[in-house]
Amino acid sequence: MRTKTDFLIIGSGIAGLTYALKVAAHGTVTLITKVQAEESNTKYAQGGIAGVLEGPDSFENHVKDTLIAGAGICDENIVRMVVTEGAERIREIIEWGTRFDRSDDGGFDLAQEGGHSAPRVLHHKDSTGNEIERALLAAIDKHPNIQVYTHYFAIDIITQHHLGMEVRRNTPDITCYGAYVLNTRTGSVETILSRCTLVATGGIGQVYRATTNPVIATGDGIAMVYRAKGTVKDMEFVQFHPTALYLPGESPSFLISEAVRGAGAVLRTKDGREFMAGYDPRGSLAPRDIVARAIDQEMKLRGDEFVYLDCTNLNREYFMQHFPAIFAKCKSIGLDPLNVMIPVVPAAHYSCGGILVDEYGKSNLKHLYAAGECACTGLHGANRLASNSLLEALVFAHRAAIDSMAVAPSISHQDNVPEWNSEGTKQPNEMVLITHNRRELQQVMSDYVGIVRSDVRLKRALDRLRILYGETEALYERTIVSPSLCELRNMISVGYMIIKSAMARKESVGLHYTTDYPPAS
Ligand code: FAD
Ligand code: SIN
Repeated sequence: MRTKTDFLIIGSGIAGLTYALKVAAHGTVTLITKVQAEESNTKYAQGGIAGVLEGPDSFENHVKDTLIAGAGICDENIVRMVVTEGAERIREIIEWGTRFDRSDDGGFDLAQEGGHSAPRVLHHKDSTGNEIERALLAAIDKHPNIQVYTHYFAIDIITQHHLGMEVRRNTPDITCYGAYVLNTRTGSVETILSRCTLVATGGIGQVYRATTNPVIATGDGIAMVYRAKGTVKDMEFVQFHPTALYLPGESPSFLISEAVRGAGAVLRTKDGREFMAGYDPRGSLAPRDIVARAIDQEMKLRGDEFVYLDCTNLNREYFMQHFPAIFAKCKSIGLDPLNVMIPVVPAAHYSCGGILVDEYGKSNLKHLYAAGECACTGLHGANRLASNSLLEALVFAHRAAIDSMAVAPSISHQDNVPEWNSEGTKQPNEMVLITHNRRELQQVMSDYVGIVRSDVRLKRALDRLRILYGETEALYERTIVSPSLCELRNMISVGYMIIKSAMARKESVGLHYTTDYPPAS
């Protein structure tokens, strides 16, 4: 089957949905998403969205905090742009129906998170992402120009390569004509031709064994664009959230929002010692890279499997009002967080790197945009400031929409694209080959390419990944495409990019910490 659309969007998180709502006034929109529409990293966002909408806070302070967290690697112009334009974008999603909590004086109830010098985070209790998804999907539902196809899995970006031409990395004029997508209900691969395409496929957390990201976060967009010879950047900067609930056997890991530490909770070792003050004057509210590394160090020194987050000093009423989902989760495992401490561990949480884009979300492939977590915009540098991700997604989806709407009328569909070729492939008869390799990849990445790295560990990880890559590509050649096989391929590519970027960076900075190049003290 072949569909023609003006705007193709891959992904139904905050980036894909907001872009859709904007471009829909200018043409037909086809939005595909690999499972149910709401399933995304966005849905699980707890803490909220950072933004300066009212005083006494200032844009300048938000810029400064973002630059400090980014450890000298942010693009300052982009930081200024996102922070200043962000306020307008937040107002827009409020107009579309998103409800943020307000305090008694009618202003926003702003939370504080690690690395922020002031309370600045708008939120909807502790389920902000769920509220944003709800509001945006309701707005999308009402729009006649937007077709949402759930259970459609994007396999590959279509370029000249599919017309039989040679395409080389870092050459100009590589053009995106749309995507091959698998309708997972029928099993058929369809061709979607578009004038403009937005990749909004979110994060990569599933590349690691312990992650806060849902199972959809397999880095598909980043891997697809890389295969299409697009440029991918900063992949070594993988953010580990310091406080995921320690609950062996549960995957993904449940997050205990940083806003809980913002409200006064404190990290302690198993024997009750407050340790963060010894690592950073900001204590438990230092930026995430510092806190996650300190926890990792304490666990290794003591041989412990977790540390505690002590909320017992917090007001019960306040906690239950602000963190009802966290409270309910703790209670569901028999733990009252106001009486006993919560066991927590760091878990892979966010990818600062991704598809390199300019200030309009344009990748180096013509007519291909990227926004949200899959994009590398220069905002986060070596470490993302808490709650800046939803903000970045809004600003870049908006800017990508502006550019797309301007250029779309002058772009023609490419009619010479062939149908998907599945010749010589057959149904997989041993799914274990896929599931085993997925587990092995997660193991290798977690053991060797985690919070603390070294040359030897990275080399070992690369050697293992080469084997997994060879096995998986061989399987791909002879097997009918399936989401699980495509995801495995994509995760191996992402793992490879993380390792290669980590190997290339001969310093410790932000989220990339290597014992071979310790930070200058
Ligand atoms: P996502 O919301 O992840 O959406 C990606 C979409 O792409 C999904 O619909 C997915 O199904 C689809 N997709 C992926 N691959 C394919 C494919 N091959 N074919 C078709 N569809 C595909 N950030 C903040 O700023 N504040 C917070 O408080 C916060 N809390 C967080 C808490 C948790 C537990 C997690 C996991 C993340 C949190 N983050 C937070 C980060 C933030 O939620 C994400 O970075 C952001 O929501 C990403 O939005 P997105 O639109 O880029 O991608
Ligand atoms: C959290 O609530 O701690 C997550 C915030 C974020 O990832 O930005």
